[in-house]
Order: sequence, then C-alpha cells, then structure tokens
Amino acid sequence: MIMFISSHSKSASMASFPVDWQEWPVVARHKVYSADTVLPDDASLFDQESVYSYTWINGGQGSPLTIRVHPDKFEQYRTHGPYTDGITVIAVAESGNLIWVTEHVGGFPIYGSYDFNGEDISDTHLSLDPDYCHACHYTYKDICINGTCFTPETKEK
Ligand code: HEC
Repeated sequence: MIMFISSHSKSASMASFPVDWQEWPVVARHKVYSADTVLPDDASLFDQESVYSYTWINGGQGSPLTIRVHPDKFEQYRTHGPYTDGITVIAVAESGNLIWVTEHVGGFPIYGSYDFNGEDISDTHLSLDPDYCHACHYTYKDICINGTCFTPETKEK
C-alpha cells in the first residue's frame, strides 16, 4: 500500500464550519492577547506559546475571545470527553473575524479555522494550520485533555 503524503499542498481545515455558531451557548469569555503583552518571567512554556502564537490577530490589538460549545455537548466538554462525533467547541476571536473549531471524529480531535462567513482561513497563517493546533493541544496533555484545554463550570444564558 502506498501512502501519498504531500508536503506542498496548502493547509486546509479538517474540522467543519459550524453554520449556526451564533446560537451556541457561551461557556467562557476570555481574550486574545495583544502584541505588546509581556508575560512574567516565570510564565510556563505553555502559557508563553499559547499567548505569543496569536498576538498577530486583529493587527496585534488583541480581541475578546468567546468560547461556545455545541448545544448537545456541554457535559462532554465539561469532562473533556468522551466525545461523540461532530463539532464540539469553538473559540471566537470577536474582533479578529476568526473562529477556531475543534471537532471530534472517533474520539479524536481535529481542528479548523474559519472567518465569520465560513471561509476556510487555515492557510493564511502558520499558526492556523491544523498541524500547529494539534501540536499544542496534543503536547500539553495535562492541560488539553482529549483535544480541549479549558474546563467550564457553567453555561451562560
Ligand atoms: C500554543 C498552544 C495552542 C495552540 C497552537 C492552539 N491552541 Fe487552542 N487552546 C489553547 C489554550 C491554552 C486554550 C484555552 C484558552 C482559554 O481558556 O482561553 C485553547 C482553547 C481552544 C478552543 C476552545 C475549546 C477548548 O477548551 O479547547 C478551541 C476550539 C481551540 N483552542 C482550537 C484551536 C485551533 C483550531 C487551533 C489551531 C488553529 C489551536 N486551538 C491552536 C492552546 C493552543
């Protein structure tokens, strides 16, 4: 069997676009840090990478970040799985016209990045390549469990 792996193709989102994302319950309001953010010297490598990977968003101005979970998957998200198939959770850079998507297939997380209109933008920046998402979400297994990193307590109304 021959596996064809192209290293030259443009990256494409693996997770799909959640068409009705604006209806999904909000579970957290965080932020994307601005380019002038300086972390304390003792910040963990994970924090440094998470913050500095995305300071380019919204022209370096930072952005409110909203985490929305699929209406049927709050309990799964709260316990970091086990996850049923389909889009699980999204992170929306409100001022950045950017939606990060985490979907699960057969229990495994896959990733994608879209603008608010559903245009796949994963090839517009290295840090939006699904491989790049996976590298962080998979490496820090004590923080990102089964592909999700945050642990919500409740949903917002
Ligand atoms: C360098 C580390 C890092 C990279 C790279 C990264 N993430 Fe994350 N991701 C995080 C952290 C940390 C959080 C939690 C953020 C918070 O609580 O505000 C998170 C949260 C998320 C969430 C909200 C749900 C959750 O709890 O996990 C989604 C969706 C998500 N990431 C998708 C992606 C996608 C898609 C990519 C690639 C385009 C990506 N991430 C790249 C670290 C990373």
